[in-house]
Amino acid sequence: MHFWTSLLVWMALGVGFVSVVDGYGRVGHWMTGWLAQQCLTSEAIEYVRYLLPHHNGNLAKAALWADEIKHGHTYDWADRLHYINPPVPCTPIPANSCTQCVVGGIYNYTSRLLSPEYTREEKEEALKFLIHFIGDVHQPLHASGRNAGGTEVKVVFDGRVTSLHEVWDYMLFEKRIRKDFSSSVNTYATHLLTELATTWSPSLPSWARCSLPKTLLLHSSIPSSIPVCPEDWATHSALTACEVVWPPYDQHKDNSKWDLGREYYDNVIDEAELGVLQAGVRIAWIINAIVREVGEDQAGVGREVTAEEVVSWWSGAWSWVRSLVDQSDETDVEVTKIYSAKWR
Ligand SMILES: *[C@@H]1O[C@H](CO)[C@@H](O)[C@H](O)[C@H]1NC(C)=O
Repeated sequence: MHFWTSLLVWMALGVGFVSVVDGYGRVGHWMTGWLAQQCLTSEAIEYVRYLLPHHNGNLAKAALWADEIKHGHTYDWADRLHYINPPVPCTPIPANSCTQCVVGGIYNYTSRLLSPEYTREEKEEALKFLIHFIGDVHQPLHASGRNAGGTEVKVVFDGRVTSLHEVWDYMLFEKRIRKDFSSSVNTYATHLLTELATTWSPSLPSWARCSLPKTLLLHSSIPSSIPVCPEDWATHSALTACEVVWPPYDQHKDNSKWDLGREYYDNVIDEAELGVLQAGVRIAWIINAIVREVGEDQAGVGREVTAEEVVSWWSGAWSWVRSLVDQSDETDVEVTKIYSAKWR
């Protein structure tokens, strides 16, 4: 093959694709960003393009940024924003329990995106942190508190010595992708999107609900139209850690032959996958709602939102999902339809 042709083919294959081989720790965040991208309104796609020029408006790539900056020391202050240590283990996370934690970080960066006081650059950083932290808070061991979130706990997964934290960060997904999706992250992500539009569609309204009234919160400036409820998400993760993640470990920790790649994987993979799905959808809902709230002018896109465009984000998203489900009654949901359809 001609050099330039092969280079182009090679680049085309590389674009938007995270190789399982060198993308290990990043696969969870990549998928939440990818799922979110598919669920943006057209106005939100413009907004994201404006705020993330260095990532070409691509949420999947931008979702990795907050881990990439850990290589230097400039952002050391942000390390503690990736997780929360529950004040009381195995109980719900109370309102206003911390600012320097993943819950506080999600509120801080949501309110920065809503405020006219910050520059485009500051909002770029806010968006990159926000989409990453929403992913983190859905990983049970980022809301566990025990043994530094399992990072200090040595386990064996498919013959490899690792930590319990790493198993939940990426090794479960890596195994699922290898086992069931011929090592293609894109195929897996597409499968998850189809699941969202079919199996999970009846649950979506409950995923958007917040149990704490915004008026109770320190960040009461965030309008209730923005479906941001990190306490609820952290509570689900904290309880999942106590009920699903840790008990099998406690039972088997003295058995050096215990390999988490077997029954443990089978028992927890659905829960891990649910976290990715919920994080992806919630990232999109929040960005869509922010764009609707601030209007495109302030969002920097340079055009007023018309009255027709200000349709309820929820009813729009809901009817889109219904239409996919209706189609799927007859045939399998057409992947191309999912790609092109947007949450309107
Ligand atoms: C909010 O984020 C900004 C920018 O990253 C940071 O400087 C500030 O300390 C944060 N506020 C709180 C309360 O954490």
